[in-house]
Amino acid sequence: MNVAFIQFAPRFGEVRRNLDTAERLALEKAADADLIVLPELFSTGYLFLSRSEAFDLSEPFPGGPTGDSLARIASRLDAAVVGGMAERAGEKVYNSAALVRPDGSFEIYRKSHLFLDEKDYFDRSDGPIRAVDAAGSRIGMMICFDWYFPEVCRVLTVQGARVICHPANLVLPHAPEAMRTRSLENRVFTITANRSGADRRGGRELSFIGMSQVTAPDGTVLTRAPEEGEHVAVVEIDPRAAEDKRITAKNNLLEDRRPELYGDLL
Ligand code: ACM
Repeated sequence: MNVAFIQFAPRFGEVRRNLDTAERLALEKAADADLIVLPELFSTGYLFLSRSEAFDLSEPFPGGPTGDSLARIASRLDAAVVGGMAERAGEKVYNSAALVRPDGSFEIYRKSHLFLDEKDYFDRSDGPIRAVDAAGSRIGMMICFDWYFPEVCRVLTVQGARVICHPANLVLPHAPEAMRTRSLENRVFTITANRSGADRRGGRELSFIGMSQVTAPDGTVLTRAPEEGEHVAVVEIDPRAAEDKRITAKNNLLEDRRPELYGDLL
């Protein structure tokens, strides 16, 4: 299975241009991928200044330009495609990851843990966190700051996810290394598709750290992009490697858990 991330610097509010960039990079550089991951909010940019701005730039999924663009890439490349978008649902607007398969069927995941001002602009998700079948494997989706909450990756692992798709707009420096641990402690592959560049608006600036990467179930980094610029990487993985949850001859990371001791988590 070939998995890919597409790292680039979306321009705030220039949805058509951002979609064209993503489509061009996918068709030119990820043509042999079976699963492609694009950054969080890749079609709108990130630095909203108000909820109404987020609402105005949001779109239904499916049926909006971002969903159509993901579907075009999926069908042209015969790949499953995951990308982050501002999703409108009635009066609500979610920070979501959309997955489209080559046959046009789709899934949506709404970010569970909103970061900083996202809490003012986006609605809080009611879930679910749910692994899905795509690209011949079992896939989980989480979005950016969800990495800070190991429960997300763990629950997807318990549901059988072998490959975790992680659209991101990372601003804190820790996630690329932390995702190696998410990978190791769950024995899963992870694909972090982060954006690069900066959003500058309303006297504010947010810079994003790039460093998109693919990690393996033993925690190794299979490939990592630089901090700046446009980068597409395609990496061959064998998702069956994520089925082996043995740690030692006498330890298995799922079977050795002690949920009866974890009551305070709930
Ligand atoms: C983030 O969750 N976009 C930092």
